[in-house]
Amino acid sequence: MASAAIYTASVLLSGLVLLTSPHTEPAFHETQWYAGAAFLFLYLTLLTGAVAGTTAMRVEAGPRARRALGVSACWFALLHSYFGFYRLVGGLEGLRYWSGYFARSLLAGLLALAVLCALSVMSLPALMRRMGRSWKPAQRLLYAAAILTLVHVVTVTIHLRHLRAILIVTYALVTPLLMLEVLRFDRWVVARHALPRNLIALVAWPPLAAALFWAFFVLGHHEH
Ligand code: HEM
Repeated sequence: MASAAIYTASVLLSGLVLLTSPHTEPAFHETQWYAGAAFLFLYLTLLTGAVAGTTAMRVEAGPRARRALGVSACWFALLHSYFGFYRLVGGLEGLRYWSGYFARSLLAGLLALAVLCALSVMSLPALMRRMGRSWKPAQRLLYAAAILTLVHVVTVTIHLRHLRAILIVTYALVTPLLMLEVLRFDRWVVARHALPRNLIALVAWPPLAAALFWAFFVLGHHEH
């Protein structure tokens, strides 16, 4: 039920973006709204996993809903990449007029997209069955997709109005998620090695939050 609602919302949102588009070139409207949706759904996929992994909270429909969130993130990332690359950058021809730095940022986005697509294909029931016990560890590739997306987002040239406010809100959302993921990693290590609980989390979180702050607010590649 929850997954059906997520897929329906994704399809409706995709259509709404097209319906509200001014249909101008370059296609900023579609590129940016689909980027936001891809980021949000990827964030929710990670957040639901992190909450389930660090608390005793177990929802029966959780894994299915999480899969629907991940597949939706991939769907929006595909739409964003199409509009971003062909209708904003100008395809391979247009890429010649952008910097090498910008091209490398798009490459990080392309790699993130490839991982998201691979994970979505893996979520097909037949493939899940075939993969057996290796399916769960393979899902950790989602972290690779998240890191590549983050690299892409903080290095790409963004033409958004109110960018500072958007960055502040995004930072406020991402840092608690980072904390949960670090806690999860801490528990994973403590279960295998004789280390005090929460030590890794306490040591790793401040520099990670500071690195994120630098990437969001000091790295000057957002306003052009
Ligand atoms: C081939 C893959 C990709 C291409 C060609 C691409 C292209 C672009 C471009 C051109 C921009 C700048 C838009 C602007 O001028 O404001 C951008 C920004 C962005 N991209 Fe991507 N991207 C790709 C993959 C991804 C993926 C996989 C995600 C997330 C899952 C993502 C999320 C974002 C976000 C959040 C922004 C910042 C918001 C914005 O400016 O629209 N991108 N991308």
